[in-house]
Amino acid sequence: MADTASLSTATDGVEGGVGLTALLVAAARAIETHRPDSLAQDAYAEHFVRGAEASAHWPVRPDQAPGGDASPLWGRFARYFGLRTRVLDDFLLRSVRTAGARQVVLLGAGLDARAFRLDWPSDCVIFEIDREAVLAFKHKVLDSVSAEPGAARVPIGADLRDDWAGALTAAGFDTTIPTVWLVEGLLFYLPPAAETALIDTVDRLSAPGSALAYEVKLEKDLTEYRDSPLYTSTRQELGIDLLGLFSREPRPDSAARLTDRGWTASVHTPFDFTRRLGRGPLPEENDALAGNRWVFADRTGAT
Ligand SMILES: C[S@@+](CC[C@H](N)C(=O)[O-])C[C@H]1O[C@@H](n2cnc3c(N)ncnc32)[C@H](O)[C@@H]1O
Repeated sequence: MADTASLSTATDGVEGGVGLTALLVAAARAIETHRPDSLAQDAYAEHFVRGAEASAHWPVRPDQAPGGDASPLWGRFARYFGLRTRVLDDFLLRSVRTAGARQVVLLGAGLDARAFRLDWPSDCVIFEIDREAVLAFKHKVLDSVSAEPGAARVPIGADLRDDWAGALTAAGFDTTIPTVWLVEGLLFYLPPAAETALIDTVDRLSAPGSALAYEVKLEKDLTEYRDSPLYTSTRQELGIDLLGLFSREPRPDSAARLTDRGWTASVHTPFDFTRRLGRGPLPEENDALAGNRWVFADRTGAT
């Protein structure tokens, strides 16, 4: 019994298991912030990295990154996260400023500091869902730097494999208000049934005018890129075995599911945005990013 409890404490927060991936993204955002050609600014990211024992020694600036831009981990993979951050920042801000969404829901929010660093309309509400222990770490760090959100922020501790809709509505989410949903760097960790349930829940809770962005991996066999420089360096340099954390079961076609329910969806490779913004990863041989897709969907018309 004691063993089980200590095991789950180690993997529930950011210090182990899938929680460590939130620190990996934070380190990439910290480095991106200090690049001369930065695509996104996140002043909180380095505080998260320094605030956890597991990552206290990781680089938070380009000149601290072993291998620099040539590194598959701190160069190419970190640039991937920088690009993703910028593209999804733009998507969220466009959704609230021009499309009129007034609720933002970050599913698997991790150490995403958008509530604190982006310029939100004052009547916006930002809901953040992640596991309780990840949010507890996040709040400890944010409190230590006296961070103040730029809009109302409602953190919700929940497991996204369970029924989380009740917790969201109990926290004040309003199904009549257009919402922008973000599922960044989460779905590949969930079993396919949980992904489908999540998409169905987003559909059910979305008023007309809502929008959704999410990230998926299309590979039929994720182990195809087992020996890629990106997976290998992440495993060897940080001890994070991404393939060991991903769900390996066949993935659902969530874009088709949304389209069947009246959403319009567009599917992009990250490389599309590298070309558009002028920096970020491009395709290479044996590429762990080859199957990554960023999907943007809109719910128009009547429910
Ligand atoms: C790679 S991080 C991404 C975090 C954030 N979206 C970002 O891009 O910075 C994955 C996050 O998903 C969360 N997560 C994974 N499985 C989860 C689950 N079953 N329920 C809730 N959160 C989960 C982890 O705790 C972690 O914070």
